[in-house]
Amino acid sequence: MTILVTGGAGYIGSHVVRQLGTFNEPVVILDNLCTGYPSAVLHGQLVIGDTSNTELVSHLLREHQVTTVMHFAAHTIVPESVADPLKYYGNNTCATRNLLQCCRDAGVKHFVFSSTAAVYGLPASGVASEDSPTAPINPYGSSKLMTEIMLRDLCAVTPMKHVILRYFNVGGSNPDGLIGHSAPTATLLTKVACQHVVGKRPDVKIFGADYNTPDGTGVRDYIHVEDLAAAHLDALRYLRGGGESTTLNVGYGRGFSVREVLSTVAKVSGQPLKIVEESRRAGDPATLVAKADRVRSVLGWQPKFDNLEVIAATQLTWERHLLKHPELLQK
Ligand SMILES: NC(=O)c1ccc[n+]([C@@H]2O[C@H](COP(=O)([O-])OP(=O)(O)OC[C@H]3O[C@@H](n4cnc5c(N)ncnc54)[C@H](O)[C@@H]3O)[C@@H](O)[C@H]2O)c1
Repeated sequence: MTILVTGGAGYIGSHVVRQLGTFNEPVVILDNLCTGYPSAVLHGQLVIGDTSNTELVSHLLREHQVTTVMHFAAHTIVPESVADPLKYYGNNTCATRNLLQCCRDAGVKHFVFSSTAAVYGLPASGVASEDSPTAPINPYGSSKLMTEIMLRDLCAVTPMKHVILRYFNVGGSNPDGLIGHSAPTATLLTKVACQHVVGKRPDVKIFGADYNTPDGTGVRDYIHVEDLAAAHLDALRYLRGGGESTTLNVGYGRGFSVREVLSTVAKVSGQPLKIVEESRRAGDPATLVAKADRVRSVLGWQPKFDNLEVIAATQLTWERHLLKHPELLQK
């Protein structure tokens, strides 16, 4: 019943590993530490290596009799994917193809995949349901959609079942301050704003203040990382209970604007932010919010942290903790 977690030393994967630990699930983590940290792994055995390494992955699957793979390992920075698309297709698509082949050969039963709202591109209404057309507008989104397609086709001809989770905008950190979002190069808004609060960035940029939204800035569906992590444990129970392969949005189904997020960070930190308005970035939709009822009905997912202040406050607590403990960033 061992679970292989790829990318489990990263932001989201480490929160899932910690939650799996509370249920004493046997876990092996495979991470090459390109953006992850050994200090983030609070449960299970960390193996430093790459998902493209056929020999290593096959060995781990057989040695630990892995029945479930949770696949987080990926490159995740959208502008970088535009500048260097082959890096993204190489890691997110080709290395994942290798992982899937190893899983097929080892008879892995269940596969949970970290996909993204980026597969939707620019949905006309700003609200994306799982049935909305997929039309990614950057190599990152395309590289993840390719994995969705590989999974669909592989599971059609093998006994393997999958749950694809399409995450919306992830934020926050473990509320007990045990782990958080550590990679300094991350581009997620709540992380960037908290880095600014603690003095790691000179300002926070708003890309586009002239959208057709209530305050002119982009609107997104921000979800707390602990709720997102919990959806993975729900997916595991679902698959073990005989659930069919499925694709689910994971968001709260409501949006906040960039200005609302920044004023919430300012409020919880007790200090004003230096905000710089820049022009729109190509390919950013005005609004991108999940239609998010299916994950509740199919998995029984019940979020506990649907609160922007909690997302901002837990993120800030971790950013302050990192300042005092630079050793957490040792590789
Ligand atoms: N953070 C978000 O808002 C968000 C939104 C949608 C989807 N996702 C997806 O969630 C997953 C996790 O994202 P994250 O924010 O935790 O990113 P992250 O960079 O913190 O975690 C990724 C982890 O994978 C590892 N890794 C990368 N390539 C690897 C490889 N080839 N072999 C082994 N390890 C490798 C990294 O070292 C890192 O620990 C990704 O698949 C990402 O596409 C994230």
